[in-house]
Amino acid sequence: MAENTDQAVLKLDSASLGYGSFTVLSDISMSVCKGQVVAMMGGSGSGKTTLLRAATGQIRAQKGVVAAFGQDIAQLDGEQLRRTRKRMGVLFQQGALFTDLNVFENVAFPLRELTRISEAQIQERVLDKLDAVGLRAAAHLGISEISGGMARRVALARAIVLEPELILYDEPFAGLDPISMGITAQLIRDLTDRLNCASVLITHDVAESFAIADQVYIVGQGRLIAQGAPAQLRDSADPYVRQFLRGEPDGPIAFNYPVTPAFEAWLKNRTTRP
Ligand SMILES: Nc1ncnc2c1ncn2[C@@H]1O[C@H](COP(=O)(O)OP(=O)(O)OP(=O)(O)O)[C@@H](O)[C@H]1O
Ligand SMILES: [Mg+2]
Repeated sequence: MAENTDQAVLKLDSASLGYGSFTVLSDISMSVCKGQVVAMMGGSGSGKTTLLRAATGQIRAQKGVVAAFGQDIAQLDGEQLRRTRKRMGVLFQQGALFTDLNVFENVAFPLRELTRISEAQIQERVLDKLDAVGLRAAAHLGISEISGGMARRVALARAIVLEPELILYDEPFAGLDPISMGITAQLIRDLTDRLNCASVLITHDVAESFAIADQVYIVGQGRLIAQGAPAQLRDSADPYVRQFLRGEPDGPIAFNYPVTPAFEAWLKNRTTRP
């Protein structure tokens, strides 16, 4: 299929997403274009990782369309989906590294699996990406010898090593100290500009994401609550947006996971009666 250059790299059109008959997010429309950093924000359990799973084809939209590179993901067969996935880099929230491989081999893994480039090129690309995350000299270390924040940065280097056209970062700042956080945010911005790729930044961190994002989407209560450029959202009078951006405990966004009939049935079964 011929691709139009101004086409969105990732586009959701009135998509409902969830698991089985459980809908997490309804009626989500958003688009991410080349060269853009789009931040996806929302409270814990609001459906951010679910959205990432829909973008990578791990789950299918219950309603509406999720399209990557102009193609509806639900229409792709296994081989087409694999080819589409090769064009994406993903930093998973639980970014499991291979504990039996050292730092270098973890980052080299996608290159060995998915390309046929020479050992010299592999070394150059891996050291270059490790350098970008400040861990060039940690290349030889085992995964058990690095800290949690370092592991996060290794996972980041692995997500970008194929220089993909679409990069999805799920909580890239989790476990990072403030300096690493600022550097990582700038790295995401620089990579997006240099590779002219599209980046989706899933995070709770308002300061870092607002500093680098072109567009921000906020999800909550099962839907898209707000969208706009960072400056627009900062000035928003919407109570959801204000509560989220200021981290206020009281407001329309509830802290507690809502009680469901499934929970009540489970609790009733557990309750020991006198
Ligand atoms: N595999 C699954 N099967 C069924 N329900 C799931 C599954 N994964 C997540 N959920 C539910 O979907 C909802 C959204 O979860 P999701 O992981 O997308 O949230 P999130 O916004 O990424 O949260 P966090 O900020 O804590 O990572 C939650 O209610 C969760 O319990
Ligand atoms: Mg998540």
